[in-house]
Amino acid sequence: MSDPMSAPILRFDGVSRDFSAQNGFFGRKRTMRAVDGVTLDIPRGKVTGVVGESGCGKSTLARLALHLLKPSIGHVYFEGNDLAGLKPAALRRQRRHMQMVFQDPYSSINPRFSIRDAVMEPFQVHGIRHTPAEGKERAARLLEMAGLDPQLAEHYPHQLSGGQKQRVGIARALALEPNLIVLDEPTASLDVSIQAQIIALLADLKSRLGLTYLFISHDLGLVRYFCDRIVVMYLGAAVEILPSTDAPHRHPYTRTLMESAFLPDPERRRAVTRLTGEIPSAFERPPGCAFATRCSFASGRCYAEKPVLLTTGRHAVACHHPLD
Ligand SMILES: Nc1ncnc2c1ncn2[C@@H]1O[C@H](COP(=O)(O)OP(=O)(O)O)[C@@H](O)[C@H]1O
Ligand code: SF4
Ligand SMILES: [Mg+2]
Repeated sequence: MSDPMSAPILRFDGVSRDFSAQNGFFGRKRTMRAVDGVTLDIPRGKVTGVVGESGCGKSTLARLALHLLKPSIGHVYFEGNDLAGLKPAALRRQRRHMQMVFQDPYSSINPRFSIRDAVMEPFQVHGIRHTPAEGKERAARLLEMAGLDPQLAEHYPHQLSGGQKQRVGIARALALEPNLIVLDEPTASLDVSIQAQIIALLADLKSRLGLTYLFISHDLGLVRYFCDRIVVMYLGAAVEILPSTDAPHRHPYTRTLMESAFLPDPERRRAVTRLTGEIPSAFERPPGCAFATRCSFASGRCYAEKPVLLTTGRHAVACHHPLD
């Protein structure tokens, strides 16, 4: 029998998610595909990064991971269970083990709640009761784990700095002892020095608690520093999965994206890496490769036939002419 610990904690199997939008008040309803056929394993105990430009579907993927959104097509398996197939009670039980930290901690903390109430809310949601003394103790321990002074429990969100609020968000996420935490741009709204402290905290918690992270960011430097493997998204699709941060970039989009961030010489950076051409609309997807209009390697086949994510050689890439 295979070792259950070696099985991925989370698996996306052909997952797409559509959204409908009305064109004006009386306009026709149009459907766009925000996530497009993602098949992806999230291995246990690792940090999997998801990168891509704004609007490429990262947050939608995050919400699909936790079943906060249902797939339009495909399945999401957490610990081997298809989340869409679970009864509400079973889904609630699974949810304890998967948590999310958002970019804007304001969005997850009720401004009228004391910090203690905010940290204890996950227990309430799951019907886990504490005596007042137990609750105090629990909240204090959670705040400490997130590197906060337990005395802050009596304070209110507006009395905290951005970094402290994000630590409260992390304390909440830890409350139910999850295995998987989805971090959706957790440091994007923080100053660089605070950002580094939060990343150090996340790294420490991961090694102490054996957590798995799905780390979403448009900050390539941060992803390269913090993640074990990197999923590159373009217009809703996973176009390349880098098995390590030093793996070669085989998809033309990955190469452009990474070079624009990391070439040391700014002159060369500008010259080599400008992304030109239109991004196709997610409402009217072209039949072939979504990157073809911006790709200097595009052939006739690229405009006609959609490339699928295939593992050739060392890792998975969705391109008809992958780079060496
Ligand atoms: N609830 C929603 N209703 C309609 N469109 C949405 C909704 N959520 C996301 N979208 C659209 O889906 C696309 C992907 O969005 P998102 O996942 O937030 O991207 P990212 O996090 O990479 O910036 C965008 O075009 C966005 O406008
Ligand atoms: S499939 Fe063709 S157009 Fe798309 S990235 Fe590869 S080479 Fe470029
Ligand atoms: Mg987002």
